[in-house]
Amino acid sequence: MHSLDDAGPRNHRIRALLFAAGIAAAAAFACGDPAEPGTSGTGGSGPCTPACEGLECGPDGCGGVCGTCAAGEACDAGQCVACQPECSGKECGDDGCGGTCGECPGGTTCVDGACACEPQCEGRTCGDDACGGSCGECADGEVCSDEGTCGPACEPQCDGKTCGDDGCGGLCGECAAGEVCREGNCGPACLPQCDGKVCGDDGCGGSCGECADAELCVAGQCVCQPDCAGKACGDDGCGGTCGTCSGQEVCQDGTCECVPACTDRACGDDGCGGTCGTCPDGEQCNDLSGTCVVTCTPSCDDKVCGSDGCGGTCGDCGDGTACQDGECVCVPACQGKQCGDDGCGGSCGTCTGGLTCDSSGSCVCVPQCAGRECGDDGCGGVCGTCGANETCDAGGSCVAAAPTLSGDVWPIIDANCVSCHGPGEGGLTMGFSASSFRSATVGVPSAGCAGETRIVAGNSAASYLVKKLKGTAACGEQMPYGSPPLPAADIQKIEAWIDAGAQSN
Ligand code: HEC
Repeated sequence: MHSLDDAGPRNHRIRALLFAAGIAAAAAFACGDPAEPGTSGTGGSGPCTPACEGLECGPDGCGGVCGTCAAGEACDAGQCVACQPECSGKECGDDGCGGTCGECPGGTTCVDGACACEPQCEGRTCGDDACGGSCGECADGEVCSDEGTCGPACEPQCDGKTCGDDGCGGLCGECAAGEVCREGNCGPACLPQCDGKVCGDDGCGGSCGECADAELCVAGQCVCQPDCAGKACGDDGCGGTCGTCSGQEVCQDGTCECVPACTDRACGDDGCGGTCGTCPDGEQCNDLSGTCVVTCTPSCDDKVCGSDGCGGTCGDCGDGTACQDGECVCVPACQGKQCGDDGCGGSCGTCTGGLTCDSSGSCVCVPQCAGRECGDDGCGGVCGTCGANETCDAGGSCVAAAPTLSGDVWPIIDANCVSCHGPGEGGLTMGFSASSFRSATVGVPSAGCAGETRIVAGNSAASYLVKKLKGTAACGEQMPYGSPPLPAADIQKIEAWIDAGAQSN
């Protein structure tokens, strides 16, 4: 550390010495340069002495100058003289006095005092140089691109093509007259259209094919033309028929002809308007079988029906009758019938158990309701139903039902009497229900009239309560006390209930 601190100032001193020596050496070299013009001719060696005596400017002979001239002056033989700019015939370049005769516009450069176009060929090997010249020519078969480079010219694409565009603005070939180019190949101007057609016009004046005789071309197909001229039957030449023969006829050369049917027949109609033969005397032809049979004499003596002995009949019987021994007899019609007329004056059966025979011959139960409005009809049903408060009596009539304690009598008592004869009242206590009313009255002696019984079951006339309602009692007042008597119908109901036994019903 200590030694480095001392090193700094010592180094500075060394550098300063070297710098001074360098300047001295440079000065020595300058003076000795033999090539410098104007070098004084005092000798080829030793220090150079500038020779400027009488000179204002120009070289001093030692590489320096004797002085510089003011602006607008030129140095002429060591004297400063006024300078005349020389620009005649020049539009640019040095004017000879340190100035310029003019600047050239962009894209041009000064050549011999004139502005000339500057060729633009940087990065280009061919094409226009922008000055009316060329940057270079391309080899044969090459073309110059817009970018100024040489490349292969367009290659015509004519593989497999005999005509049409070659892709480079040319043609691959020409077609003959009457032909046109389609997809690179020459062909007839008209293309025959025969897809799916075997005959007929091909659209170009030609034909797609010819049909055989007896065939017609229909929609491009050969179809058979039936030929039935003068024929009523048989093959039409196209797999069809001109007609069929009927019955016993057969087709012969287009005509239906009848064939006599006489196989196994000796006589009778042959089916074609003729005969299969005639029978000998004593025999006649059975047209059905076609055989000759010995003549038969029908015998119908005393017979109205049945066989005549010769295969015929002596007569037919009417509906519902059958032939029996030559006579028509009635046939009983009892199918599906249990009873009733058999159509022949007899019976199909009789009904039992109270059932009646109806028009269709069935035994049925007939409801017995004549003079009856209710009750059993004898067939499991009823002749009618009675209204409320009615019952059906044995004669089938609806009659008023006998009054009951709960349904008829008690409602009357409850509404008209218990206000005075209810619970808590003295004397007769008719209670507060139908049953307490009954037990307080039926067979109970009167409290206020000796010898009387309030209600005598089965005898309304002897009952004291009825007498009190009618006002015929020997004691006291007519009930209800202090009010009009009960309606007669109400009194009758109470009487009827008592007469029926004053039951607890
Ligand atoms: C306003 C009060 C009153 C009314 C309502 C009334 N009674 Fe009487 N009833 C009496 C009086 C009071 C007696 C006792 C005097 C008499 O026998 O007349 C009596 C007595 C009787 C007796 C006799 C009793 C016996 O044992 O001697 C009978 C029966 C009777 N009433 C029935 C009826 C009947 C039925 C009715 C309803 C239709 C009725 N009463 C409505 C006040 C009434």
